[in-house]
Amino acid sequence: MPLPDSVLVTGGAGFVGSHAVEYYADRDVDVTAIDNLSRAETLSDADEEQDTALHNWNYITETYPDVDLRELDIRDFDALCDVVAGHDAIVHTAGQVAVTASLEDPRTDFEVNAEGTFNILEAARLADTDPRVVVASTNKVYGDNVNEISVEEHETRYAYDDPEYDRGIPEAFSIDGCEHTPYGTSKLAADLYVQDYAARGVVDAAAFRMSCIYGPRQFGNEDQGWVAHFALSVLRDKPITIFGDGKQVRDLCHVTDLVRAYDAFISDPTADNGVYNIGGGVNNTTSLVEFLELLEEMSGKTANVTYDEWREGDQKVYISDISRAKDALDWEPAIDIETGIERFVEWYESANI
Ligand SMILES: NC(=O)c1ccc[n+]([C@@H]2O[C@H](COP(=O)([O-])OP(=O)(O)OC[C@H]3O[C@@H](n4cnc5c(N)ncnc54)[C@H](O)[C@@H]3O)[C@@H](O)[C@H]2O)c1
Repeated sequence: MPLPDSVLVTGGAGFVGSHAVEYYADRDVDVTAIDNLSRAETLSDADEEQDTALHNWNYITETYPDVDLRELDIRDFDALCDVVAGHDAIVHTAGQVAVTASLEDPRTDFEVNAEGTFNILEAARLADTDPRVVVASTNKVYGDNVNEISVEEHETRYAYDDPEYDRGIPEAFSIDGCEHTPYGTSKLAADLYVQDYAARGVVDAAAFRMSCIYGPRQFGNEDQGWVAHFALSVLRDKPITIFGDGKQVRDLCHVTDLVRAYDAFISDPTADNGVYNIGGGVNNTTSLVEFLELLEEMSGKTANVTYDEWREGDQKVYISDISRAKDALDWEPAIDIETGIERFVEWYESANI
């Protein structure tokens, strides 16, 4: 499949965005990356290891000097239109990413996630190049409805107790009549705009409803990115709080697998618009306590864990049904959890952070 000549990556200094930049820059595609560096601010406020804040920005600048990396906010529509012009594709990963922050400041969350994504779609609609657009959506769009599925408790994990979900949660799962959190709502608004523009053929676009994505250059914390948060904490001998009993289950998808899925849509003009659930699927699941055990085995360290109350709305089990992506994009995850964590540890040891 032919790669696009040029790609714009929003949130290019973030975790997922920096991998999208790398994917295309490694393949000699012209890449422009924009970021307002708000994540860097959050990291330098929260993390005493301040050198992590600009890590991904510096990584791109030093490794890929040909990438046009610009400080720009997706809420600035005029500036956005200028930068979108001339690109064949857009990978939109910029976002307000934490549920906790959305509860504290729902307006900013709305402006960045809902209006920011609307700006991307509008800029794409107005561009002469008809760019194909991938939007990083989230499994949180399914809100609290996921908790309506009955679960059974095993020694180290919960599991769905309903054969209807043997393959996980499909795209047709209800998004209605439940709580979402402001983050889930702003991302759902964005997701619906993508569906509308895509269904009317105004823009060729897909919303990728991502579950737990992990990998190198992810600076997770207690609010977002628990896989990296757990891994970094164990490697740095820092304490971890588990909210709930640790038996909650997630499907994990390595970021390089995710970016391959993005490109399967971008590079194939015949790929269907719409919504795709993307995650590790049923073959790549773990509970929090199982994951910690694996980390301990692989690092030779002991996790320092305390337990606290369940967080409101936390899903006991979330597993993506990735059948649609398999069928329509000919995609499936290639990196299992053990290999993915090995790569994370290798990166950590070589990254000097
Ligand atoms: N990592 C995951 O597991 C996961 C799961 C589901 C969905 N997502 C979605 O994927 C996307 C990327 O997540 P990530 O983990 O890479 O997060 P990240 O915080 O590492 O990256 C997001 C980037 O967007 C930038 N940004 C924020 N607001 C901006 C604005 N107004 N203008 C320009 N740039 C802005 C931030 O500075 C940051 O660099 C987000 O939209 C998130 O909601 C991530």
